[in-house]
Amino acid sequence: MFQQHPPSQIEHAPIDRAIGLLEQGRLVAFPTETVYGLGANARNQSAILKVFQAKQRPLNHPLIIHIGQFAALEEWVQTVSDPAEKLIQAFWPGPLTLVLPKRKDVPGWVTAGQPNIALRMPQHPLTLQLLKDSGLALVGPSANQFGRLSPTTAAAVEEAFKDINPNPVDLILDGGPCQVGIESTIVYFDGKQMHLLRPGMISAEAMSAVTGTEVLIPQDKTPLIKAPGQCEQHYAPRTPLLIVSNTQIKPCIQGLTTKNASPKMALLGFSELLTAETGIAFFEKMPQNPAQYAHSLYERLRLLDHGGFDLILLEAPPADHAEWQAIWNRITRAATNRVE
Ligand code: TXA
Ligand code: MG
Repeated sequence: MFQQHPPSQIEHAPIDRAIGLLEQGRLVAFPTETVYGLGANARNQSAILKVFQAKQRPLNHPLIIHIGQFAALEEWVQTVSDPAEKLIQAFWPGPLTLVLPKRKDVPGWVTAGQPNIALRMPQHPLTLQLLKDSGLALVGPSANQFGRLSPTTAAAVEEAFKDINPNPVDLILDGGPCQVGIESTIVYFDGKQMHLLRPGMISAEAMSAVTGTEVLIPQDKTPLIKAPGQCEQHYAPRTPLLIVSNTQIKPCIQGLTTKNASPKMALLGFSELLTAETGIAFFEKMPQNPAQYAHSLYERLRLLDHGGFDLILLEAPPADHAEWQAIWNRITRAATNRVE
């Protein structure tokens, strides 16, 4: 059903080679528990510019700095408030990014002009070793082209940059499939208040439980801080994606299939019964468990993107459940439309 990938060009490189390249200001894609990052030395301005260029990312979208040691925090941030400290102790290394006031001597080109800086300590043994052995801090946006799906396998990283000549990614460290599968939770500290900037698998509830303080969830569309990256369409496959509630799947398929047009459709859904649907060229069963769902979402969408479908239908996951919030955030951005 799917196109075969060409034989892998991924070099299973030793960490030493990655360190050497990063020290020369070159780009190394690295695995994390969330998604693969496109790494560059966070102290090297021209290396950071290469990252923006490679991703075709607007220059005002700030990058997350990845550190491997707690002591490195003070090289970047002015102060770590008490709740921030508690979150660090509870969740680092792990899929949580903190946005804190940057030190005055951290140049604006690191934070795209923001007074705050985003930091995280990823939890992947290869990358932790890379960070520790090198002593470097790495910028690490997801290793994909701007607006596209984040890669959760080394093959996906390879695919994301394969048409750019010369290839801007000097090395891909292959750490296997990412465990979490969607990007980290981002929390912003405004004095003592905490605001959720991007939901992830570490929930607002889990953070409130640790800090004893409520994590505020922005309710309207006005950005809380000028932190681009929250644009509407993001994390999207190329094939149009439609989110459809369970009861609307059948009518939707029927409505789309007419005498004159029968689009080739794939369905990502929960129920086996739907395999019997006529008009569906391919059915992929999705896990009922949100953590497993997140783990496989991007890779499945990426593979379906190669299936030559006119449309991907995605059965709506449970609504109004905190543990599905991050998934809803990503699928709504990826989708072209929604049928309820
Ligand atoms: O899981 C992740 O966070 C992955 C892995 C590779 O670590 N990285 C990732 O990076 O998702 P990226 O660049 O795709 O997303 C970074 C997000 C953007 O939405 C950006 O707006 C926000 O972090 N961000 C970065 N620096 C910020 C800052 N100083 N203030 C506010 N938001 C910031
Ligand atoms: Mg990204």
